[in-house]
Amino acid sequence: MRMSLSSTMIRAVWVVFLLFGSVSSGLAQGEGLARTPPMGWNSWNHFECKVTEADVRSAADAIATNGMRAAGYLYVNIDDCWQGKRDDQGVLHPNEKFPDMKKLADYVHSKGLKIGIYSSPGPKTCAGFEGSFGHEEQDARMYGEWGIDYLKYDYCSFQGDVDAQIAAYRKMHEALLKTGRPIVFSLCQYGMDRVWSWGPGVGGNLWRTTDDISDDYDRMAYIGFGQEGLDRFAGPGHWNDPDMLEIGNGKMNHDEYLTHMSLWCILAAPLLAGNDLSKMTAETLEILTNPEVVAIDQDQAGIQGYPVAQEGPLAVWVKPLWDGGKAVGLFNRGESAMPVTAHFRDIGIGDQASVRDLWAKRDLGVVQNRFTAVVPKHGVVLVKVR
Ligand code: GLA
Repeated sequence: MRMSLSSTMIRAVWVVFLLFGSVSSGLAQGEGLARTPPMGWNSWNHFECKVTEADVRSAADAIATNGMRAAGYLYVNIDDCWQGKRDDQGVLHPNEKFPDMKKLADYVHSKGLKIGIYSSPGPKTCAGFEGSFGHEEQDARMYGEWGIDYLKYDYCSFQGDVDAQIAAYRKMHEALLKTGRPIVFSLCQYGMDRVWSWGPGVGGNLWRTTDDISDDYDRMAYIGFGQEGLDRFAGPGHWNDPDMLEIGNGKMNHDEYLTHMSLWCILAAPLLAGNDLSKMTAETLEILTNPEVVAIDQDQAGIQGYPVAQEGPLAVWVKPLWDGGKAVGLFNRGESAMPVTAHFRDIGIGDQASVRDLWAKRDLGVVQNRFTAVVPKHGVVLVKVR
């Protein structure tokens, strides 16, 4: 009797310890969060400051019914411009475009999805709305009450050196932990001060590595190919974020959007669609949801890809996969179609391997020593080799 009582007590002490231990952890928000790069949608790239509650509901409706949810798109994220004013108690109220955040969150959750929101460690957001400076705990508590699952925390008007930034991001991380709710923490400070080296330590599940993307091939390519060298900082629970997708926003052609999606998947980048999901073409939806391509991004090994060969505008990038296969992107940044070759010795594959074209959804058979494809201008051929 005495023995069993004391073992029960020991177990109870362990439970309290584990619970308390997890709340005071200095790591990311809960061990299970963002084990693969977050997928979903964000309002900014298409709607910018015009976003309304109706737009967010339509995005959720679309994801739940058009195959995106099944493909893994989960987070419906409201970016800047939802905020109104703080009242006498410091409580921040949404503006008239978002009459009831709790109701909106319930709606998004009712679709089997999760909802994200946006703020800044500074006094003002990038669009000049109220930031969380001096109100971190109060804001985090409110997010918890609404049922928020993801916070993008954007530097904007924050002022301070790297130590001040670290303290500010950590402060919000701790406030989010206190809500007791698993909330993905997305750092947005444009890759200053080697954020990839301290992002995980302040609880970041992802951190922007660059300034803003735009719906433009040169800008997208500059950012995407510029991720070279950051692969060792990414892994399950903590990811480099080269910014949200522009696929379907209309200013790049089909090959350029294929490059955008292929590169982001090889980079194990977060996949946050940035287009108007309620008016998407079948072509855009196909790019966003190709299951074999998304599987490269979401591969459970969580390894960010890297370039293995470069020749002028031609480049070969590789992402090792958990099953021993390799995703290989043959990219052509040049102005006319050209053959690109991936040598198996460069990508760590034996003399012969089977090759599958992931966009064409076609097996190309067993190949010796190297694989060559003619790649269109600004285009890509994405294969899995094993
Ligand atoms: C910054 C961010 C963008 C977006 C806007 C909103 O520019 O980098 O992604 O969040 O602010 O104002």
